[in-house]
Amino acid sequence: MIKTVLTVNPQNEIGTIAPEIYGHFSEHLGRCIYEGIFVGKDSDIPNTNGIRNDVVEALKAVKLPVLRWPGGCFADEYHWRDGIGPLENRRRMVNTNWGGTVEDNSFGTHEFLDLCEQIGCEPYISVNVGSGTVQEAAEWIEYMTASGESTLAKLRESNGRKEPWRVKYVGIGNESWGCGGSMEPLYYASEYKKFQQFCKDYSGNRLYKIACGPNADDYNWTRELLSHINKWHAKAISLHYYTVPNDWEHKGSATDFDEKEYYVTLKKTRYMEEIIDRHLAIMDELDKEHDISLIVDEWGTWYDVEPGTNPGFLYQQNTMRDAIVASINLNIFNSRCTRIAMANIAQVVNVLQAMLLTEGAKIVKTPTYEVFDMYKEHQGARLVESSIFNTETGIDGVSIPALSQSVSVKEQDGVKILTLTVSNASLNEDAELEITLPEGTAFDGEAQISVLTGDMRDCNTFEEPDRVKQARRTESWSGKTQKLSVPACGVVSVSCAI
Ligand code: AHR
Repeated sequence: MIKTVLTVNPQNEIGTIAPEIYGHFSEHLGRCIYEGIFVGKDSDIPNTNGIRNDVVEALKAVKLPVLRWPGGCFADEYHWRDGIGPLENRRRMVNTNWGGTVEDNSFGTHEFLDLCEQIGCEPYISVNVGSGTVQEAAEWIEYMTASGESTLAKLRESNGRKEPWRVKYVGIGNESWGCGGSMEPLYYASEYKKFQQFCKDYSGNRLYKIACGPNADDYNWTRELLSHINKWHAKAISLHYYTVPNDWEHKGSATDFDEKEYYVTLKKTRYMEEIIDRHLAIMDELDKEHDISLIVDEWGTWYDVEPGTNPGFLYQQNTMRDAIVASINLNIFNSRCTRIAMANIAQVVNVLQAMLLTEGAKIVKTPTYEVFDMYKEHQGARLVESSIFNTETGIDGVSIPALSQSVSVKEQDGVKILTLTVSNASLNEDAELEITLPEGTAFDGEAQISVLTGDMRDCNTFEEPDRVKQARRTESWSGKTQKLSVPACGVVSVSCAI
């Protein structure tokens, strides 16, 4: 049993946790868009304008704040004009990045922005730099956001949408150091500056422009990029880092792994902390006023695909290990909320560390989904100071901190609510926390407690969709100290008035 103390100081507010830290990513990859999100109007699966109702409902329930689209690597071969207008006229193309499937472009700009409206989230559009033109990017923005007499606004209207959409987030190039064009940082910086210049604000829309930042620990990219762009060019730069248990050739199974691989995975996920801090240190040097934020717009686990599935589709199961990965990463992002403006787990349905898995009309919420649900009260709340007397856990020379936490406060109906999320990575020791508030503060009400736990390999399947589920309970909490148990391989969230 790990017995430890968690000290919380709700008076020391560190910053606001952008809801967008709980953002998601959807790409034309495998069964993410087609089948996972979009089934077409004529499908027997209940849908609204072709978009699955069950998926929208599940994503609304976790308050999904922002959705990135159309890629990923796909974004740099996507030409938006292929995906507008009558279906029968839409261009069919080969999705060269992901399995060589035929992309019929039946899910395009209108369908994506409809999806965002149905969910109630901000769209985040990734424009094509690698194989696109400045004109194409500029016109896409105009098509989506301009009103009035613009020819593109009229074209949009003729395609069924009179009112312009509000599109805030625009990413200019995806992985421009890799699948987005294998560019050198200096070359990309000039391309970026040119592209962003022509992505304009129309009709009251205000773009938030995001430059392609580094791959994982490529600190040179960040340094070079930020030596050549400034706050007038970009509001943020992006970072991609995936948790791969072994190496890219043999990543490891999503469900069939031993304890050592479990701890190695978590150690690799904790590397996110170092990567972010080192990029932020460079950003601090080159952007002293902190005008440019960091956006982790691809993160999550990446395993070998499920046996028998198309290797280009990146379909993987999701276990309690993924729940701990999600919890650790979200705590890392929360704790750096003054510098991290957004994060987008990859990907939302049927790809990599997915929130939802679908098979025909069936849908499964993964353990990762449960964690996003348990953390949703942090969205828009103020991070407060907290510290835990941590202990190490692990096996055979692989050692990681056992516990990870974040604590935030927000007002609800005039009452201050404290939300606390903790995960315990240890596989054999439960943790008992003594939560301590400072003098003059006290818990005062019904604490809403959710617990997610199980064997490290437990997952939800179409046969057994509710194997990993939150257990919810309420307890009356008062006074300045409270005890909280966090089971081994478990995540706990608590919300209570103070
Ligand atoms: O999420 C899958 C792929 O990973 C994305 O398309 C790409 O940006 C990254 O390499």
